[in-house]
Amino acid sequence: MTRVLSDTGPRFNIRPKTVAFANSKGGVGKSTLALLMALGLATRHRDASVSLIDLDPQATSSDSLKRFCDSRFSVVSDSKNYEDGSPNNESIINHIHSQRSRRYKKRFAVIDSPAGIEPNKSSFLFHCDVLLIPTSMSDADIFATRKYLEKLHRLFQTHENRRSFPPPALVILPNLVDSRDEFNELRFALQKESAYLGKPLYYSPAFRRAFREQRNDDNIKMIFKQAQPYTLWLTSLLTQSHRLEKRPKDLFQL
Ligand SMILES: Nc1ncnc2c1ncn2[C@@H]1O[C@H](COP(=O)(O)OP(=O)(O)OP(=O)(O)O)[C@@H](O)[C@H]1O
Ligand SMILES: [Mg+2]
Repeated sequence: MTRVLSDTGPRFNIRPKTVAFANSKGGVGKSTLALLMALGLATRHRDASVSLIDLDPQATSSDSLKRFCDSRFSVVSDSKNYEDGSPNNESIINHIHSQRSRRYKKRFAVIDSPAGIEPNKSSFLFHCDVLLIPTSMSDADIFATRKYLEKLHRLFQTHENRRSFPPPALVILPNLVDSRDEFNELRFALQKESAYLGKPLYYSPAFRRAFREQRNDDNIKMIFKQAQPYTLWLTSLLTQSHRLEKRPKDLFQL
C-alpha cells in the first residue's frame, strides 16, 4: 500500500538546506554573494524553492531581489529579525523552518546578515548547514575575520545548543581578489584557522552594479555570465554540504 504524505507530513518538516553569509566586517561582499547564491540556486534547481532571509535593516539584497519573487522564490525582510543591533533568533529560526513554498520537496534558505553581528548572540547559526564568511584581502578585514572566527568557535564550543545541533561548516570566501599572488598571501595569513577556504572571487566592476535599480535585469545577467563557474561552485557547496562535515584542524582549501 502506498503511504500518502500530506504537505505537513514528516517529509516536509525537514529543515531547508540553509546557508548564512556573515562577518563582523562591513563591505566584504556578504550581500553580493548572498544574491549570487540565491539566484544561482533558483536557476540551477528548478524543482526547488529558495528563500532569501535578509537580516540587514539596510535591506540591500532583499530590495534588489524582490522583483524576482514568485511561487518558488521568496524574499523575507522582517524588521523583527534584527532589532536593536541584535538578531532575534526565535524569529529567524521560525522563518527558516516555515518557508512559504512547502509543496517543494527541495528547499533552500539563504541568510544575508548585517555587519557587526555578534556570534555570541547568533544561536540561529546552529540551524544552518554552512556559514560562509566573505573577506577582502585588506589587513583590516583579515584581522577582523580572524577575530570573528575565534568568537564563532567559542559559540560552537560553549552554547547549550551544541548538545542538540551540529555546528555549521565554516568556509572563508576570499572576495575582491586582485591576483593569484594576493590569494596566496591570504591563504598564508589564515593558515592556522580551523575552517575551510573557498575559491577566490576576483574583483570585477560588474559586481558594483549588482544592486542597481533598473526595470530589466541586464545587470544581473551580466554578473551571472561573468561569474558562472564561481556560482556553480558556490551553489554546489550548499547542495554537497554533507561533504564538509569534518571540522578541519587547520585551514583546508576547497
Ligand atoms: N568581487 C567584487 N568585485 C567588485 N566589487 C564587488 C565585489 N564584491 C562586492 N563588491 C562591491 O563591494 C561593495 C560591498 O559589497 P556588499 O554590499 O556585498 O558587502 P556587504 O558585506 O554586504 O556590506 P555590508 O556590511 O554593508 O552589508 C558593493 O559596492 C559591491 O557591489
Ligand atoms: Mg550587506
